[in-house]
This record gives sequence, C-alpha cells and structure tokens, in this order.
Amino acid sequence: MIRTTLTSSRTLPQTLVLRGVRHASVQPATPAPAEDGGSIMDAFASTSIGAQVLPQRFSDLKKKLWHPSLETRWKEVLTELEVETKRIVTERDGGKEMVPRLPFSQIKAGAIDPELSDRIFKTGSVIIEGAVSEQEALKWKADILEYARINKEHVRGFPAEEIQVFEFYNSKSQTSARTHPNIVATQRWLLDFLPTSNKAEAKVSLRTVVSYYDRLRIRTPGDAKFALGPHIDGGSLERWEDSAYRSCFADILSADSKGWKEHNPYDITPRIDADMDMYRVGKGACGVLRPWQGWTSLSNTGPGEGTLRVFPNVRLANAYVMLRPFFSPKPNAGGSLKAEDWTVDLESTAFPGSAPGLGLELTDASHPHLKLEETMTSMPRVKPGDQVYWFSDVIHAVEKNHNGTGDSSVLYIPAIPLTHQNAIHLRKQVKNFSLGLPSPDFPQGQGESLNVGRSTPSNVVSLEARRVLGLEKFEVPEDAEKGEREVLEAWNDTFEKV
Ligand SMILES: [Fe+2]
Repeated sequence: MIRTTLTSSRTLPQTLVLRGVRHASVQPATPAPAEDGGSIMDAFASTSIGAQVLPQRFSDLKKKLWHPSLETRWKEVLTELEVETKRIVTERDGGKEMVPRLPFSQIKAGAIDPELSDRIFKTGSVIIEGAVSEQEALKWKADILEYARINKEHVRGFPAEEIQVFEFYNSKSQTSARTHPNIVATQRWLLDFLPTSNKAEAKVSLRTVVSYYDRLRIRTPGDAKFALGPHIDGGSLERWEDSAYRSCFADILSADSKGWKEHNPYDITPRIDADMDMYRVGKGACGVLRPWQGWTSLSNTGPGEGTLRVFPNVRLANAYVMLRPFFSPKPNAGGSLKAEDWTVDLESTAFPGSAPGLGLELTDASHPHLKLEETMTSMPRVKPGDQVYWFSDVIHAVEKNHNGTGDSSVLYIPAIPLTHQNAIHLRKQVKNFSLGLPSPDFPQGQGESLNVGRSTPSNVVSLEARRVLGLEKFEVPEDAEKGEREVLEAWNDTFEKV
C-alpha cells in the first residue's frame, strides 16, 4: 500500500516514467532472496529511474482491445469526472467527511445501515469505530516501544537514523491485534461484503479470515520522509495484459458488456486467478490476494498529521484508469481536459503511470482528469483502536508531511480470505513466524529471531486465533459450496503443525 515519495518530474503522455513501486500484487512473489535485512524502502526503491518507452506489443495490445464504444465511454467518464471531482472538493471543503464511519456495533449486530453500506461501496474505504478500546490500542503501542527498546541492537527500519516504519512482524502486539476477535469479525464482514459471481465454483472462503504479516508505523511529528504519492496496489500493466485480471474490468473494456456504469469492482471471483505480478522482477510484491488493505490506528490522528489519503470513488476511478491508455491529448491541447482536445491513441505504446514490474502511479500529469492534487482526501480523524480499510483498487497515498504534535501510528493489518494462493503464503508465513523471521514478502535476514520477548506460535492459545494465523486446521462449514470446500479441505489435508 505504500511507496516512496514521488519526485515532481512530469512527463509527456507518450513517455513513460518509471518511479519504483511494486507491491501488493496478488500472485505468489518470487522466492524472497536471503538478504541481510532491509527496510520499507527496498520495496519502493527507485523514486525515479528514468523514462522508458514500452515495447511495440503494448501498442498491439491497445489495438487488440480497441472497439469504438470505448470512445463513447471515455467521453461519458470525462463528463462524470468533471462533476465528481467538483463534488468531492466542494463537499470535503464544506466539512463533510468523505470516508464513512461504521460503528463496530452494527457489524456485531449484523445490521448495517444501508446508506452507510452504499457509501462504503462508492468510496471503497471505511473507518470502523469501536472494535478495539483506546486503552488496548495504546497498550499495544507502548509494548512495541518497549520491545524496540530492549532489542535496540537488532531493530531495523526506515529511516535508519530515526525509524518511522519498523521491520517488526512478530511482536506480541501485532499478534494480539491480528487475532483480536473484533478485528477478525470486522474483516470477516468486510470480506463477506464482496459479491461473488459463480459462487459455487469460486475457490475462496470469504468467511475464513487469514492473517497477512505486515509492518507497523510509528511516525513522529515533523517527519517528511515517509511520504507516498498516489498509487494503486496490485501491479500496473497486468490490468490490461493478463486476461484474468482484465476480466475484472470487463464492463469497462469489453465490447459486449453493459458499460462502465455497471462495473462492480468488488466481485472477488475474477480476481482469484488474476496475475497481478507478471514480471516478478524483484522484491516488494504482495504474495496474497488482498481485497482490503488496512490498518489499525494506535494514535489520535487527523488530516495533516501524516495520514492516509484516498480518491473517494472507486468505480469511476477504475473506469478512467482503464480507459486512459487509449487516449492522449491532441498536439496543442495545452493541458485542456476537454474531450474534444483528446484523441484516440493506439499507435503509441504508452500506458501512463504503468511500467513492467511496478505498481500503478498516478499524478496530475499522467491522469489529469482525476485532479489528484485537489481530490485526494485525507482520512478523517481516527482514535486509537479505530480501523481503516480501503479496497485494493482504491487510489491512495500517504501525506507528505506530519504536521501534528503526536505520533501517527498504525499496525498494517489487511483483510484477506483463504484461497489456494493465500494458503501457500500462509504456510511460509507460519514457518517464518515460528523462527522469528520477517514475513515472506518482505526483506529477509535474521529479523527478530534474536529478539527478546517476541511472539511465537506457542503464545497463541485460542483456537480461533490459531486458525487466523494458520496454526490449526480450519472448520469446513456444512453449507460450504464446492469451491469453498475445496480450499478449506486442501489446507486441512496438507496441514502440518509447527
Ligand atoms: Fe499502497
């Protein structure tokens, strides 16, 4: 979900600028190299590695996918964006919170306000309040700081001189949070929120929450180093190149579809087989199907205090992003955003913001109609214990500056279901957990293996917690359909206790 600070370099639409982000794909990552540690910057290593023109096959791909109704859809999307970008700015600046807040009590009661549900669907992001007490969240943070203090000779992170993002995966606080019954219940609800086409066959158990070990952030006031520009996780060119991934956007791209207004970004079924990391060129990719990235707050943090920013309309953004490579501004357009000043572009190989092996980065140069400088919207104020989630297609960023007076701190805990791919990752993760090593997708090395007071599988007692971490077999519900049953039984049949 994160990346290094974008440079301010701007580029012609036909020119591809690579700025290194590669993370959050949903395919198995290449085996992590045995390195001597690392930090978050390894995943976002190249902030600007120069311009590159893509090979001819990318022009051929555009020609293959082209049909005339894409031009009609493009014009519709531009019209809609003009209205929507104004709405976002006007409502937000007028004081409206653009990201909905969902009380955990509604999840617990199984009664979600339909209006809230609609807003979550539209924005693709949500704040869940009240699942974890402030006191408990603050205790997690205090324990992490103590864990860092007593193991200071082994602690790594970014930046090295004053760590904001810790290379911790196996602290007791992280284990407690990942297995907290209310966080697990929240994630089960979020996954169940996803519609599933071809449900009987879909090889996923959306009610089986499994853990994905990620880092944590304790960002101190004044920090301006941990800043991440607008991007989308899950690869970039793969959205068009990989046929399974492309099928997630069929209503936007296909000639025989109903059109972009029918696009449902949340259908999990086509994503199960999507290859979001076709190039496998290095480290930093996320080796699981991760429908919802998320964090649990350990601080009282509001806009301007180094928090997350999102573009709060996932369907419209998807439509624009997927159509964008097929069009470019006319010569002499002079920066005009009007549809008549743009033209069909199938000859160039440009896929603005995309590059092999990297995530999709967006700027006002590459995706001007989104007006990201104005429309990227900061998370409203959150308290310790609040959870924030955003769907995998959501354009997101991290505020450049932390101008607050307190720390801005989170545990990254996404919501992921059991699939065959996620089971492969979970097995590696269990092994690393037992050894105190970093999570499999992240820079390797000795990690926390020598740390005093780290979490181990033997610390985890409750059956549900052990299942979430992959330490036990799963229950196969009586009403499980074929696809769900298959993934659960595959895990159980090959399960080995650590
Ligand atoms: Fe990201």
